[in-house]
Amino acid sequence: MKRIGVLTSGGDAPGMNAAVRAVVRKAIYHNVEVYGIFGGYAGLMSGNIQKLELGSVGDIIHRGGTILYSARCEEFKTKEGQQQGIEQLRKHGIEGLVVIGGDGSYRGAKALTEQGFPCVGVPGTIDNDIPGTEFTIGFDTALNTVIDAIDKIRDTATSHERTFIIEVMGRDAGDIALWAGLAGGAETILIPEEKYNMEEIAQRLKKGHERGKRHSIIMVAEGVCSGVEFGKELEEATNFDTRVSVLGHIQRGGSPTAFDRVLASRLGARAVELLINDQGGRAVGVEKNHLVDYDIIEALAKKHTIDLHLYKLSKELSI
Ligand code: F6P
Repeated sequence: MKRIGVLTSGGDAPGMNAAVRAVVRKAIYHNVEVYGIFGGYAGLMSGNIQKLELGSVGDIIHRGGTILYSARCEEFKTKEGQQQGIEQLRKHGIEGLVVIGGDGSYRGAKALTEQGFPCVGVPGTIDNDIPGTEFTIGFDTALNTVIDAIDKIRDTATSHERTFIIEVMGRDAGDIALWAGLAGGAETILIPEEKYNMEEIAQRLKKGHERGKRHSIIMVAEGVCSGVEFGKELEEATNFDTRVSVLGHIQRGGSPTAFDRVLASRLGARAVELLINDQGGRAVGVEKNHLVDYDIIEALAKKHTIDLHLYKLSKELSI
């Protein structure tokens, strides 16, 4: 393989730039040219493609967002859209593609692979919901953003003796809520993977209050319900002064943590190795701190699972 492409797609995630840098530098190190596709699959279809040099990825390892920009593209879900993308790739002499993104991006990479164009998927999303890897690029940075918010909210919650609901992202996965809730010492964590009981939550908060606790922090993953709705119901059930904070897109920005930069560098470089060795149609990941790769079609057929030991631990520690 003498020329590869790289794109970022779907919701951006801190560390995507570090992954792009790794792809470009690793490929050039092995005398392979790299073309950047700007604006995700939409940019691929319209041919927004430019050659990347070593200097194109200088000074980006510490930046959030993605220098290749990103998009969610409905048209690329169609066979015609995918064919248009393949034509653009062939027109530019590109023989393989690294796709950095979440599950929607993987589905695009899978479709291209099935139509004979080799792609390798690199998991980049704050949601940590990609099967075939324990961690996705951006998850750790998002966690640190959420923890910072929890710490600040706790200050004001204690001063005013309030209950706070903090709604976090994650789409259908509860990983952000669970990990941030555990690290932030939340009293209760609601995740889509586990049912909750309002009566039991209210009783637990009341007991804590009786013991002299001045604040309660409740993490709500967006995949469970709206934090605002939950806050109303909880206030009715407890009569406690309750406030809701929806963290939203601040979770997607910011300089990536060291963990995300290292993860992105390792995964981006591994994706290039696979393409160079003619192993397209793979998805890379990390398990027990070792790099792994799976058939992208099989990886997508698997289901992401949350760490229920952590969930149990969070319950035990927040009595
Ligand atoms: O997949 C990343 C994510 O931030 C999810 O956590 C969230 O549900 C979604 O994207 C929001 O998407 P958008 O930025 O398109 O509103």
